Amino acid sequence: MTPTSQHSDTPRSPQEPVSKQQPNDAATRHEPAELDEIPKGYQQVETREGIKIVRDGPVSFVRRELAMSPTRQRLWQDHMGTTILPVTRTFADTSVAPQSHLNVAEVWGQAGPLIVDIGVGHGESTFAGAVQHPEANFLAVEVYRPGLAKLLDRVVTEGVTNVRMVEANAPEVLDHMLAAGAAQEVWIFFSDPWQKNRYHKRRLIQSKFLDQVARVLAPGGILRLATDWSNYAAQMREVADTHPAFENLHPGRLAGPDSPLTLARLHGTDNEIPQPLTEALDEVGGWAPRFETRPVTSFESKAQRAGRYIFDLAYQKID
Ligand SMILES: C[S@@+](CC[C@H](N)C(=O)[O-])C[C@H]1O[C@@H](n2cnc3c(N)ncnc32)[C@H](O)[C@@H]1O
Repeated sequence: MTPTSQHSDTPRSPQEPVSKQQPNDAATRHEPAELDEIPKGYQQVETREGIKIVRDGPVSFVRRELAMSPTRQRLWQDHMGTTILPVTRTFADTSVAPQSHLNVAEVWGQAGPLIVDIGVGHGESTFAGAVQHPEANFLAVEVYRPGLAKLLDRVVTEGVTNVRMVEANAPEVLDHMLAAGAAQEVWIFFSDPWQKNRYHKRRLIQSKFLDQVARVLAPGGILRLATDWSNYAAQMREVADTHPAFENLHPGRLAGPDSPLTLARLHGTDNEIPQPLTEALDEVGGWAPRFETRPVTSFESKAQRAGRYIFDLAYQKID
C-alpha cells in the first residue's frame, strides 16, 4: 500500500483551537463517576453547572470524525477484547481507569520485548515493526479509531499476530496500563506539531510526558522520536537532552552547517522566514540516523513534498 494524504480517514495535524473542531473529550462529563479519589491527571472544579472533573492540562489531540465503513465497524467489533484491548474509562472517552494494569505475557501470549508506538495514525510504523520483529510485542496507542481500524485491517489480512491496540490518551496508557520498566522501546513519530506559539503547551513531548515514558521504559530501553517541524525538533531535543532519565545516543551528530536544523532554519521551512547562517547555525547536533524500521508514512511524504527536513532522535533510558 502506498501511503497517501488523500485517504478520507487521514488524521490531520490539529492547528485550530478545540472549540472550532469536532467533539473533543478534553471536556469532561458533568457527573463525576463513583471513584474514591480523583485519578492522576484530573482535577475537580466548580462551575456554574455544578462540579466537574477535568483534565489537569490541555491534551495533545483533537478527537476527529469516528465514522467508519460498516465493514470496518464489524471488524472492530469482532476484534474488540482481543487485538483491540478493552479499556475501562473514567471521565472522558479516551481516559484510562487507574486499575487498568496490562499483563504483557498474558495479553500477547509470548514473553518478547514490548514496543509501544504512540500516536500511530494509520499504524504504518507499528505494522512495519511488527512484521520485521515477530518476536516482539507491539502496542499501538491512538485516540483516532479509524486509524487503528485501518491497522487492524492490515494485521488481520496479513495474519500478523504480535500487535495489540488501545484507543486512549497516551499519558494515561503509560500511567495506568503499563508497569514500571515494562517496555523496551517507545516510538513517537510525527507527533502533532501544534505550530502556533499559543498551542505549544499542547505538544506531547514535554518534560512531564518524558517522566511518564521514563517510568515505563526498562533500564537501557530506547525512546525514538521523529518530526518534520524544526521548531518542535529543537524542543524535543532540548527536553530530552536535559531530562535526567535519558541519554542522547548520538551526541553532537550533524552539529554545524550539515545539521537538518541549520538547513531548516536557513530555508525557513517552518514559517517561510529564512534566517541568516549566524542565527540558523545549530551547534548542538545530536540527530539520529533515520531509524531503519520506520516507513515513510503519509505525514512524512507530505513533509517531503513541502520541502521540510526530517529529524530523528534516539535516547537511552539511563539505569
Ligand atoms: C501527525 S499523526 C502521526 C501518525 C504516525 N505516527 C505517523 O508517523 O504517520 C499524530 C497522531 O498522534 C495522535 N495523538 C496525538 N496525541 C495523542 C495522545 N495523547 N494519545 C494518543 N494518540 C495521540 C493523533 O490522533 C494523530 O493520529
